[in-house]
Amino acid sequence: MSKIRKFSIGNPINTDAVEKKLAAAKGKIPYLKKEDKSFVYKLGTEDRIYGLGENVRGINKRGWIYESNCADQPNHTETQHSLYGAHNFFVVDGKERFGVFIDYPGKLILDMGYTKMNEIRITPEDWDMDVYIIEGKEILDIVKEFRALIGRSYIPPKWAFGYTQSRWGYKSADDIREVVKGYRENGIPIDNVCMDIDYMERFKDFTVNDETFPDFPEFVKEMEKEHIHLVPIIDAGVKIEEGYDTYEEGVEKGYFCKEKDGSDFVGAVWPGRVHFPDFLNKDAREWFGKQYKILLDQGIEGFWNDMNEPAIFYSEKNLDAVMKKIKKMDNRDMDMWEVFGFRDLVNGLANNPEDYASIYHNMDGKKICHDKVHNLYGYNMTRAAGEAFEELCPEKRILIYSRASYIGMHRYGGTWMGDNQSWWSHLLMNLQMLPSMNMCGFLYTGADLGGFGADTTEDLVLRWLALGIFTPLMRNHSAIGTREQEAYQFTNKEAFKNIIGIRYGLMPYLYSEYMKAVLRNEMLFTPLAFAYPEDTQAQQVEDQLLMGESIMIAPVYTQNATGRYVYLPEKMKLVRMKSMNDIKTEVLEKGHYYVDVALDEVVFFIRPEKIVPYTMGGQFMEEAEQQELKLLHFVTDKAEYELYEDDGYEKDYENPEHYRTIKVEA
Ligand code: GLC
Repeated sequence: MSKIRKFSIGNPINTDAVEKKLAAAKGKIPYLKKEDKSFVYKLGTEDRIYGLGENVRGINKRGWIYESNCADQPNHTETQHSLYGAHNFFVVDGKERFGVFIDYPGKLILDMGYTKMNEIRITPEDWDMDVYIIEGKEILDIVKEFRALIGRSYIPPKWAFGYTQSRWGYKSADDIREVVKGYRENGIPIDNVCMDIDYMERFKDFTVNDETFPDFPEFVKEMEKEHIHLVPIIDAGVKIEEGYDTYEEGVEKGYFCKEKDGSDFVGAVWPGRVHFPDFLNKDAREWFGKQYKILLDQGIEGFWNDMNEPAIFYSEKNLDAVMKKIKKMDNRDMDMWEVFGFRDLVNGLANNPEDYASIYHNMDGKKICHDKVHNLYGYNMTRAAGEAFEELCPEKRILIYSRASYIGMHRYGGTWMGDNQSWWSHLLMNLQMLPSMNMCGFLYTGADLGGFGADTTEDLVLRWLALGIFTPLMRNHSAIGTREQEAYQFTNKEAFKNIIGIRYGLMPYLYSEYMKAVLRNEMLFTPLAFAYPEDTQAQQVEDQLLMGESIMIAPVYTQNATGRYVYLPEKMKLVRMKSMNDIKTEVLEKGHYYVDVALDEVVFFIRPEKIVPYTMGGQFMEEAEQQELKLLHFVTDKAEYELYEDDGYEKDYENPEHYRTIKVEA
């Protein structure tokens, strides 16, 4: 059993991160060093640190300095300090085991043994926060306790577990028809196509360009007949344009973020000049949420919320100031420093700290500076949508995932891991981020498979898909101008068909494990260090994970490798799949192995006395669901598996009828 204590410092902002409201404990606040204005913990040489959700670096977060600050950061190199999410929960594992959640929506510096290798030092910008300390025997107990505190994670409709194709640059209904045709003609399974900003009229939220997407509701129906769900993007910024309803209503009702003087803040994103809805204002949130109805009414059942850190390409006022300075530089013989200064002026336009500091919210009637609540912005955009869906279609699950997030948002939607690159290192990073996201409540998540930025390669997409078949969001997405990376664009179409087909075949297992992990506050992806706490070798493993209760995954993440080293912390059954029709198995003792994995194969491992239900799959979810259930297992005595089955739409998640026990005896 674990023990949880809450401490309140100053006047905490209500973030609604936590669902269970606890009374604050009295007395000394652990680890607080007032004279240093920090929380400080002395690390033993062996101590490990896990968590921090969406972030750079490995599963063990020790040795780097992180900044909790939702950032529009496409350059996910290991020298960054923040990505799109701000997830202030971590666990220290070593001579002591405890979890810490700092519920603080401003900027927080988390120095995890960077400045001093033997010290954690956490420094907020000011001292209004709730701190939760969770003590427990095992890491998994601590995580479970924390997850119970923050409330049940989001559950998408079942079709959202189907394979999704996305790309920035599908400019018309015909472009999307082409994509669907490419998949269907090659027999590669698919359920969803994302619509990026190209579908909108001049990048205006909740509009559809009727020249490129004529009769949109008809198109949605046509796609439905093809068993395709269209998933449009919604951006945080609302274009400033006379006659555009969302803009005009927002201005009239005073629902946009303000400058200090009370005028509407003007920033710029894809559509040019925009206002940012004040998602921290309950009324504005309700109003923005209702806008999704415009698309729901046209048959849409899923969305992705983007640019909601919020990303600001420039602010009107800063652009003016910079332009004036640049004009002065005109015709000058610039030396090195002046050139650097010139560049900094231009580069400093985007996501400028001074701009964020100049934005004001109306939170429960109180004017509050954006800096104090920065990390709540994307969260509350998605909450706006989630709350509206509850009201507009209470019977039905609607898909929603967001780029920016904070703990608390996990109850309203999923996330994708933002703009990664077509780099092999980002495949590994995808794997390493999964458990830390799970610790913070984000279960419906996945990375842009194949990589978003830069040109990909066929082998990278294949290897990445071989990991992606296990992630709840399985989406291939890429940036405009990069090499096309739809599965049918490559030579080895059979391999793509089979690997994506394995996703559909494994769906009974993947969906059951997802639902059980959500309903029981458990991890879906577990580091070996958590599951085998006494095994010092397992603690070192940063490139394998348990996925659900029955399997261990160990994807290949280096180019030209014909396999990889795998550590088996116990005796396991290796499963080698070329397709759902071609499965080979082999029992291996605990230990280290070099395992061959061809480009067109998926390899995973079944734990002892565990079962993996599967089917032959299908071209889309509904078809896969019609197939007969089969079992893969590693049973030497007897085992049971709880299969979770529901219609994938309804919300009676807790209904015991959804569970079916499968028994196997050797
Ligand atoms: C952002 C998103 C990316 C999207 C692009 C255009 O960079 O993260 O996924 O494709 O905007 O909308």
